[in-house]
Amino acid sequence: MTTGSTDRRIDKLIHLLVKNATVVVPGPKIASEIGVTRLKVWEWVENLRRLGVEIRGVHGEGYQLVTIPDILAPSLLRAELGDFPLGRHIVHYFRADSTNAVALKLAADGAEHGTVVLAEEQTAGRGRLGRLWYSEKSSGIYMSVILRPPLSPSAAPVLTLMAGLAAQSAVSAVTGLAGDIRWPNDLLVNGKKVCGILTEMSAELDRLHAVVLGIGMNVNHSRMPVDLENSASSLRMEAHRTVSRVQILVALIREIEKHYQMLLKKGNKAITERWEGASTFAHGKRVCVLTPAGVAEATTCGVEPSGALRVQFDDGRKESLVAGEVLEVK
Ligand code: BTN
Repeated sequence: MTTGSTDRRIDKLIHLLVKNATVVVPGPKIASEIGVTRLKVWEWVENLRRLGVEIRGVHGEGYQLVTIPDILAPSLLRAELGDFPLGRHIVHYFRADSTNAVALKLAADGAEHGTVVLAEEQTAGRGRLGRLWYSEKSSGIYMSVILRPPLSPSAAPVLTLMAGLAAQSAVSAVTGLAGDIRWPNDLLVNGKKVCGILTEMSAELDRLHAVVLGIGMNVNHSRMPVDLENSASSLRMEAHRTVSRVQILVALIREIEKHYQMLLKKGNKAITERWEGASTFAHGKRVCVLTPAGVAEATTCGVEPSGALRVQFDDGRKESLVAGEVLEVK
């Protein structure tokens, strides 16, 4: 069960330390600026240290940041995003069960378009097809974006493809890694999954109330759990260096906005054509199709404007997949 989001005053503390990163900030000054006791400041500094933020304590003087923290604090992100439409409202958790669950609830309570929910750690991260999403503390990006598109529920699959494109562009811009997108929206680097997207929505027959784009990205994991190590990896493992989660997240939010505007202005085909150019899975890929009905081998033959993947099974049957999963036949 997720309890309260991060106290805005902790966010202020991080902001204050970052703003004064070259000097020792006296404890009483911090306490009075954020409106808490010195003991509380000490407690929060200890919490931040446990999350890997390096803060030097100078006895009788105060605190100094040793390095700029790679923590997804709203104040640090907002400094990069400015008044950008997506992320104008950021809700941060040190620990949440699932940011998608939180975002769906916020959306039902009327949260505005562009609200971003972030967690440093998830205790029940949801994956597609009922799976769990491995959500190691402070290593990945666990983000849910609330969108309120003026579109019908049939647009949901294209929004999902759009998020995959955004993730691919953000990763390439920040790390230089070339990602491939496996339909519908897994981002693979060197054949291993580094990012997954779960789209959930609330809708009526002809109107989307809200879409929650849930994005999980393995950024600085130094290794993956044994059951995932053959199929999944992290940006750090592939780029052989640590990667700034703040930078990736800012790039991701900007790319989602860019692709979302493209979808609204130019329609589905602008996204699906781009997707076809960005994924080796679009045409002529030998795949194993996992559907609720079973498993069969097929060859891919493009993506429809709706976002469905066209495949031809080995027995000649053609089908457009709207759900399920494909894996490359090696
Ligand atoms: C997949 O199975 O590939 C989709 C994984 C989606 C995981 C993300 S992490 C942030 C958001 N919150 C969740 O509970 N799931 C999504």
